[in-house]
Amino acid sequence: MDITFLLNGESVHLDSVDPTVTLLDWLRETRGLTGTKEGCNEGDCGACTVMVQDAGGARALNACILFLPQLHGKAVRTVEGIAAPDGRLHPVQEAMVTYHGSQCGFCTPGFVVAMATAHLNGDTGFDDALAGNLCRCTGYAPIIRAAEAAADQPVPDWLADAAPEAPPPRAHPDGHGAPRWHAPEDVDELAELCARHPEAVLVAGATDVGLWVTKGLRDLDEVIFLGRCRDLQEIEEVAGGLRIGAGVTMDRVLEAMRPRHPAYAEMIRRYGSAQVRAAATIGGNIANGSPIGDNPPALIALGATLHLRFRETRREMPLEEFFLDYGKQDRHPGEFVEAITLPPQPDRLRVYKLSKRFDQDISAVCGAFNITVEDGRVESARIAFGGMAGVPKRARAVEAALTGKPWTEETVISAWDAWERDFQPMDDMRASAAYRLTAARNMLSRCLLDDLGAATNVLEVRA
Ligand SMILES: Cc1cc2nc3c(=O)[nH]c(=O)nc-3n(C[C@H](O)[C@H](O)[C@H](O)COP(=O)(O)OP(=O)(O)OC[C@H]3O[C@@H](n4cnc5c(N)ncnc54)[C@H](O)[C@@H]3O)c2cc1C
Ligand code: FES
Ligand code: FES
Repeated sequence: MDITFLLNGESVHLDSVDPTVTLLDWLRETRGLTGTKEGCNEGDCGACTVMVQDAGGARALNACILFLPQLHGKAVRTVEGIAAPDGRLHPVQEAMVTYHGSQCGFCTPGFVVAMATAHLNGDTGFDDALAGNLCRCTGYAPIIRAAEAAADQPVPDWLADAAPEAPPPRAHPDGHGAPRWHAPEDVDELAELCARHPEAVLVAGATDVGLWVTKGLRDLDEVIFLGRCRDLQEIEEVAGGLRIGAGVTMDRVLEAMRPRHPAYAEMIRRYGSAQVRAAATIGGNIANGSPIGDNPPALIALGATLHLRFRETRREMPLEEFFLDYGKQDRHPGEFVEAITLPPQPDRLRVYKLSKRFDQDISAVCGAFNITVEDGRVESARIAFGGMAGVPKRARAVEAALTGKPWTEETVISAWDAWERDFQPMDDMRASAAYRLTAARNMLSRCLLDDLGAATNVLEVRA
């Protein structure tokens, strides 16, 4: 298969692409564009940030977990393409100089590209936009000052890349022992390919699969890229509620949740980083079956329905039934996640993500509470947790212990023993079992206090 994309304004055409070569390796080793740095090679540090533009706009992405075929039909800018061709600096580069935003400089290219992307998008939420870029020596204050100083400057005209409307990647025999790959144009084609190649690895955002290759050193024999299936990326109001396609990225899920379930949106703000949220899909986060994926607890608490598809045969189930056991999901060979539906409901959702770092960290425990209270009594409760079992799981014993009772501290305390009937969490490097249980119990107390309007948020200062 061959691909075409724009690199710093110039058209690039590659024949017979190995689908598991990352953009970072290709830039540095094949193109000699060594401005893009390798720090962690797993999406955590932002040193490899590039700007990718397509019909959906401009996004900062981590080149170390971006496979070359994901770029087909897009426009890529590396740090070498942020200044003008005649050498004039971009306003964020000028500001980084003026405000002393760089010392050793290793992180600087990644920061500059992330800042230029935020600048292009008119995004002034710099704490969030730069949370995925690590700096070990300058410190963040001068960098944020630089971003703020550049914010009012116009976007340089040399950054106005129009993403090429590329035709589907052309298939031809790949005779080099490289893995076979496919890039379907729509969900029907995807369904046929999945059925014909049930062993193929599906790649959506590659924020998990990328690490299988860069850190797990896994060889993938056959790959199906989902990124060109626009009809898998739709969010629509349907009869049963809000339908979110499996290919919707987390930055778009955040925007969709902000007016509907703000606590869910607030949790997603801490999901990876801007670079990770722009790549990671909701479908990938469900399909990977991780016990610490952050979407499933919120989705289960909201009563989400999962839609699976094999060719023209579709199945649906409550999301919690998809997770059978650690590493085991109710998905047949050749079947894929097509969408998730959230039933319409007034917002009662509270979501608490507990991680060692506030930003850019995987949860130790993530709890979601959807508790309806009528006349001071719990009418219904849906509570789900990640990090408390081998799968994302409902707290059914706790739910039962609350239902019908007054929504008070006494009821919360009376549910104490129920937690141990629901969960026997494990000890690992993120947290001990005892800590997890205590944290989960405390989250229920926090949910009650939040409902009562008490100050529980340590980040919020109240007089
Ligand atoms: C730096 C970093 C930070 C992260 N932070 C978080 C975090 O805070 N919270 C969190 O929950 N996760 C986090 N993750 C994990 C990851 O981002 C998520 O699991 C992500 O949502 C996976 O989506 P993806 O599109 O990238 O999946 P991919 O990596 O493309 O795929 C993941 C798995 O799902 C399968 N798959 C993908 N789409 C489908 C489909 N439609 N049908 C069937 N199978 C499919 C793939 O074959 C693969 O097995 C982080 C990852 C990184 C690298
Ligand atoms: S090298 Fe660290 S995010 Fe890519
Ligand atoms: S300037 Fe050295 S790591 Fe940021």
